[in-house]
Amino acid sequence: MGWKTIDEMDLAGKRVLVRVDVNVPVENGRVTDATRIERIRPTVADIADKGGKVILLAHFDRPKGRVVPEMSLRQILPALEEKLGRKVAFAEDCVGDAAQAAVDALADGEVLLLENTRFHAGEEKNDPDFAEKLAHLGDVYVNDAFSAAHRAHASTEALARLLPAAAGRLMAEELSALEKALGNPERPVVAVVGGAKVSTKLDLLSNLVEKVDTLVIGGGMANTFLAAQGLDVGKSLCEHDLTGTAKEIAAKAAEKGCTILLPRDVVVAREFKAGAENEVVKAEDTPSDAMILDAGPDSVAHVEMALEQAKTLVWNGPLGAFEIAPFDRGTVAAARKAAELTRAGKLISVAGGGDTVAALNAAGVADDFSYVSTAGGAFLEWMEGKVLPGVKALGA
Ligand code: 3PG
Ligand code: MG
Repeated sequence: MGWKTIDEMDLAGKRVLVRVDVNVPVENGRVTDATRIERIRPTVADIADKGGKVILLAHFDRPKGRVVPEMSLRQILPALEEKLGRKVAFAEDCVGDAAQAAVDALADGEVLLLENTRFHAGEEKNDPDFAEKLAHLGDVYVNDAFSAAHRAHASTEALARLLPAAAGRLMAEELSALEKALGNPERPVVAVVGGAKVSTKLDLLSNLVEKVDTLVIGGGMANTFLAAQGLDVGKSLCEHDLTGTAKEIAAKAAEKGCTILLPRDVVVAREFKAGAENEVVKAEDTPSDAMILDAGPDSVAHVEMALEQAKTLVWNGPLGAFEIAPFDRGTVAAARKAAELTRAGKLISVAGGGDTVAALNAAGVADDFSYVSTAGGAFLEWMEGKVLPGVKALGA
């Protein structure tokens, strides 16, 4: 790992441009999940306590290079002040006179949030001139936004090459957790991959079969693998055009010595709604007028057995339609097992990706996992084995 941490930087009296990801869910002007804000607190606190001037750079939503008032970062200011436990100044623009005046007004140890970087087209274009304008505001750059590191944008990529750069605490924590999970893990390694579609996770599955000992496939995407084996999956969500691809992934797994676990029994229903009448059948007995909405008890028992034999778990995506009860049962049971083994010190468990965190929270076990990433898309790209541009740019 070539990157520096903030411990290796001299920050006292410096203007520190800190890229954070505070792209949090907001409803009616209120932040509904402040996890990402809470997780940047150690970095902000450390820099401020060392006498650095903390200048937060961030995006919010996708304004596509225009000023969209509803996407102003000002709306997260109250949550930011509350979670950081500090006063946070705000500048109406992230470059130019407004930004410069706000930076000039900062005393050592104070915190400033600059307006949405994506209000400028240069941000997503990774434009060198825009990056220069950002660099002009600081002496040092710290990237604490692992969850935006899959974007090669001016504030995540180009800027890192213009100023002395370091990884923030959260960035460093994410990278070391991920390294433990897939880079250099204790074996055996189990990956649990769920979610609706194979098509969004092809590269990920293809990479994982090379790296893990057991791959559990759940959720809608498992149906495509079952169909590839010639099973009738009835009205289930299934990408029939990808059964050939599913076969290729299964063949690659066999060649690499990776065991794929597919559902053996399934919970089926005739309607996709909470509380729908349902039954457990063997996967091969799925009625042609029904859809598979969860892994059955026998499938879950096999997942649990795999977890018991594993030393490391990496988890992305639910095993069933966990957002509608009772089809959350398989996901919840497997997540609880992983949590129990982790608490007992028998398993290193790392999870990430939007739905995954929601599922673990619903199961009440997120705190018991060894590590829960703040990243959605970045976690997936990392599981695909890609080098994330924001991480690469921090390299020595
Ligand atoms: C996210 O929420 O996944 C990150 O903040 C990146 O946002 P984006 O998907 O709009 O680039
Ligand atoms: Mg995203």
